[in-house]
Amino acid sequence: MSTAIQKQLESVFQRVAHLEHAMTYLGWDQMVMMPPAGLENRAAAMAELASLRHTALTSPELVDWFDALSAETESEAGLTEHASLREMKRVWQAETVLPADLVAARIVAGARCEQAWRDQRFANDWQGFLANFTEVVALAREEAKCRQAAAPDITPTPYDALLALHCAGDSADRIDAVFSVLKNALPELLDQVVGKQQSEPLPNCEGHFQTADQQALNHVLMRVLGFDFNAGRLDVSMHPFSTGERGDSRITTRFKDTEFTEALLATAHETGHASYEAGLPDEWQGLPVGQSRNMCIHESQSLLFEKHIAQSKPFLEALMPRIHEHLSATRHLNADGLWRSLTRVRPSFIRVEADEITYPLHVSLRYDIERALINGDLQPKEIPDAWDVAMQSLLGLSTGDQHHHGCLQDVHWSDGTFGYFPSYTMGAVNAAQLMATLRQTYPDWQTQLAAGDVTFIREWLRTTIWQQGGLLESQPLMEHATGESSNPQHLLDHLRLRYLEQAW
Ligand code: CO
Repeated sequence: MSTAIQKQLESVFQRVAHLEHAMTYLGWDQMVMMPPAGLENRAAAMAELASLRHTALTSPELVDWFDALSAETESEAGLTEHASLREMKRVWQAETVLPADLVAARIVAGARCEQAWRDQRFANDWQGFLANFTEVVALAREEAKCRQAAAPDITPTPYDALLALHCAGDSADRIDAVFSVLKNALPELLDQVVGKQQSEPLPNCEGHFQTADQQALNHVLMRVLGFDFNAGRLDVSMHPFSTGERGDSRITTRFKDTEFTEALLATAHETGHASYEAGLPDEWQGLPVGQSRNMCIHESQSLLFEKHIAQSKPFLEALMPRIHEHLSATRHLNADGLWRSLTRVRPSFIRVEADEITYPLHVSLRYDIERALINGDLQPKEIPDAWDVAMQSLLGLSTGDQHHHGCLQDVHWSDGTFGYFPSYTMGAVNAAQLMATLRQTYPDWQTQLAAGDVTFIREWLRTTIWQQGGLLESQPLMEHATGESSNPQHLLDHLRLRYLEQAW
């Protein structure tokens, strides 16, 4: 491979990574620390950085460099060089394929719609939302067509082209196959579990909990999960999130004073995301190939930490004494009671409050609607009816005209983010599959978790997932780690074992 050209390209991407570094931490500050009056200046500074990034990536010589490198055969390039080129090209295409006026129109329409949505949601104002949203969808369709035209071989439909921005490598065909298995099996499993749990006691986890005590407990949890406080921190924000990079992970959670489990599980979740970022390979730092694979893999890491470690019976046994120590109001609760409370299943209208069994159904509903919307098979005004029909068939609940409990509840679509939802459930599928391999690889896994030791899981994930960066596409990565591509059967097995047999 032409090393000189490769080096020149890499130096452009290193510059881009430095700009992204600044945007990442300014973005964190905006969500966590900044007073509201700082917004205008911050938005201007962020736009300036985004424009510098765009200028770096649209510099004309990049076209020639990519052409020159693409002309070489794969056999001339090593596996890593080939993957590095593929990932640089992916970032470059995603940034440069849209005409500038479309990019600007999208940003304006998305910001307007999202801003108005904040009040419209609470006012249940679907008609008001629709007035802005119709334009957001029209522009997203235009964007999807442009992106599809640039890579028709890997994006067979317009929706695939938006999906590729978040779930690169996982096609709509693959996601259809996964969701059709889950949609077939989960409603029946849901009925069985709800019926079974009706006669089971539900311990009360409520009480009064000081924020400082909860904070201390969450720090303990993060340490047990392997988080390095020398290279990261925990703060509070309205919605928990994880950002930052290796050496400086920033995760957030939120505390309620009447309930402690939501914060604890959110912290476990974000620790999973942060551990992945912190475990990415040093040698490709600043290059696209050194970044996380896609959101379907990212979410598998957070869900593995949250659902398969923190919410498991043996781990709760290990954590319970520390919970008692920091939160005296939990003294009446034992690990089994806490586990029962965390694994209670209730069909509900709201995705973010959903349990492990109903969550994939909420996502599948959104996936079907957004795919039809972007491919032109559904019009924005038809969403409420489509939503209601799907809620009734999947969860046995009717949204009717309560749109704030239906299609107005999520922020994603309001600013034009389509193709992101499936990553939540692909993440759950991948997490269950990785955990199935972990259980086979470490038959004494429950003993280790009961001792509060997750080192074996971190080490296994480090070599099979984290250190791979973007070297492999997502499905080859799953095959490398587990011997097969994403298979929803592992999630169903996990749910049956946990919820019907109370195995873990
Ligand atoms: Co997540």
